[in-house]
Amino acid sequence: MEFDFTELEPQSRYRLLTNFIGPRPIALVTTLSEAGHNNAAPMSFFNVFSHDPPIVVLGIQPRLSGEEKDTMANIRRTQEFAISMVDMAISQQMLVCGLGFDSEIDELSMAGLTAKTCSKIAASYPVEAPCVFECRVERLIDYPRRTLVLGEVVHMHVRRECLDGDGRYVDPERYQPIARLHADNYIASDRQFVLTAPPIADFIKPQEK
Ligand SMILES: Cc1cc2nc3c(=O)[nH]c(=O)nc-3n(C[C@H](O)[C@H](O)[C@H](O)COP(=O)(O)O)c2cc1C
Repeated sequence: MEFDFTELEPQSRYRLLTNFIGPRPIALVTTLSEAGHNNAAPMSFFNVFSHDPPIVVLGIQPRLSGEEKDTMANIRRTQEFAISMVDMAISQQMLVCGLGFDSEIDELSMAGLTAKTCSKIAASYPVEAPCVFECRVERLIDYPRRTLVLGEVVHMHVRRECLDGDGRYVDPERYQPIARLHADNYIASDRQFVLTAPPIADFIKPQEK
């Protein structure tokens, strides 16, 4: 089948993009409300796009009513947010944070997560998360139906056991984030495998070498 995205209506574009571009990592985004409450919401329109500068991007859409989500309003006001990666242990709590609570509800506490104050920004993160990135807004790109939030990572927390003995690389047996596929389908990274590229010389004829 072929789909002309220039002709498709937005709902079909959403269905096809989210059904086929995956798995997408999940950021549990924590921000501070104007009244000082912890807000938390999962976002799977999320990834890292640069290390120098260290930039992550979120895609946040408004509610069906057109109103901004609490996460977006808080980011706009404070220019700061934290991203916690999500593993199986906090997958249910992540879903609770995705429910549409009023802005005065502390969503970390509602989900049974333990809030800890961030080191460099005015927000908290759940200590149960395997790793957390503290971010400051680098720029916002506003489209009518979505805002792209480019965040510069200013600090990282990672649970020691998620790193190897030298503390440099990830321990794949210990750090196993989950990711979103389509709708309510998710995938765990507990079946990892090593894929090594063959040497380029294997593909070049002798006279070309
Ligand atoms: C796994 C998952 C991924 C989600 N990804 C996004 C996303 O990328 N962008 C978005 O706007 N909403 C996303 N949502 C929906 C928000 O989390 C939901 O609207 C939430 O209630 C917003 O909360 P807030 O008003 O506290 O910001 C996602 C929900 C789930 C469960």
